[in-house]
Amino acid sequence: MGGASLTTRDNVFDWDAASYDTLPLPHEEWGRRVVDQLDLEPGDRVLDAGCGTGRDAALVLERHPDIHLTCLDASPSMLAAARDRLGERAAYLQATLGMPLPAVPPFDAVMSVAAFHWVPDHVALFATLAEAMRPGAQLVSDCGGSGQLRIVNAAIADVTGQEVDPWEFADATTTRSRLVRAGFEPQRVELRPDLLRLDDPALLERYLATVILGGYLRGMPSTAEQVRFVREVRLAMAEPVIDYIRLEVVARRAMRHQTRATLADAAARFGHTTGGVDLPTPRRDDVADVPTFS
Ligand SMILES: C[S@@+](CC[C@H](N)C(=O)[O-])C[C@H]1O[C@@H](n2cnc3c(N)ncnc32)[C@H](O)[C@@H]1O
Repeated sequence: MGGASLTTRDNVFDWDAASYDTLPLPHEEWGRRVVDQLDLEPGDRVLDAGCGTGRDAALVLERHPDIHLTCLDASPSMLAAARDRLGERAAYLQATLGMPLPAVPPFDAVMSVAAFHWVPDHVALFATLAEAMRPGAQLVSDCGGSGQLRIVNAAIADVTGQEVDPWEFADATTTRSRLVRAGFEPQRVELRPDLLRLDDPALLERYLATVILGGYLRGMPSTAEQVRFVREVRLAMAEPVIDYIRLEVVARRAMRHQTRATLADAAARFGHTTGGVDLPTPRRDDVADVPTFS
């Protein structure tokens, strides 16, 4: 199909927060699993990395009302929805994971649900998170893992004629070694299949457009072309199944570790310094819009 191609893995774009929150998201269960693993004390500083509309942030605040929570996301719409949901119960940071974070007090815990696979460079991701965490701080995350979305990716390849995988679906062994390299002590790193079947074609298309295909749709010139692309992908899927395989991580920032080397790697890749104080966060204009699908 014409304009449907993806040549980079620059996955930072705006999301349709309103549509997102109406979908039957397995993310809710993934978020509960993450929050269940958090080991928090009153007064802890906690980062929700890739917070989306703030659903898991609300859950963690319900369970631990005395923490200081920062919600981070690159998408202005998602961050605005989180702010609408949580108001002054949290602080908000528009920033790009995988790039050095703006200066923040060191976090006692970082949680993340369904966000890390959108970050192409996990070495840089873990190094920049480690830099923002105190020694001993906890990292609990869920994201897409190795083998995820084979059905969807095959359908996309059928439609576009290209085999491009825009996500970083890492395996457990690679993730363990990336964590260690960044200064974490992994406690649990596991893959867990979790298939989602959506038999209603309209719902499946809205799900694909809102949750999965944003990186493709933002490059298309018209809504008509986007709608056609989503339909073609849906029709090319072998079954109406989003074949999720989750990569679950529980780790601690090591008590003694020098992350400067890996941070320097990360900074060199992005042309930033490692000081972390004067880094630009994406402006509204830098983040491409994804249209609303009804
Ligand atoms: C599937 S949503 C998950 C949102 C939320 N955690 C949930 O479970 O509903 C992925 C989120 O990651 C954010 N995201 C993707 N890449 C990012 C990056 N490099 N930096 C910050 N946020 C990013 C998106 O803007 C989006 O809000």
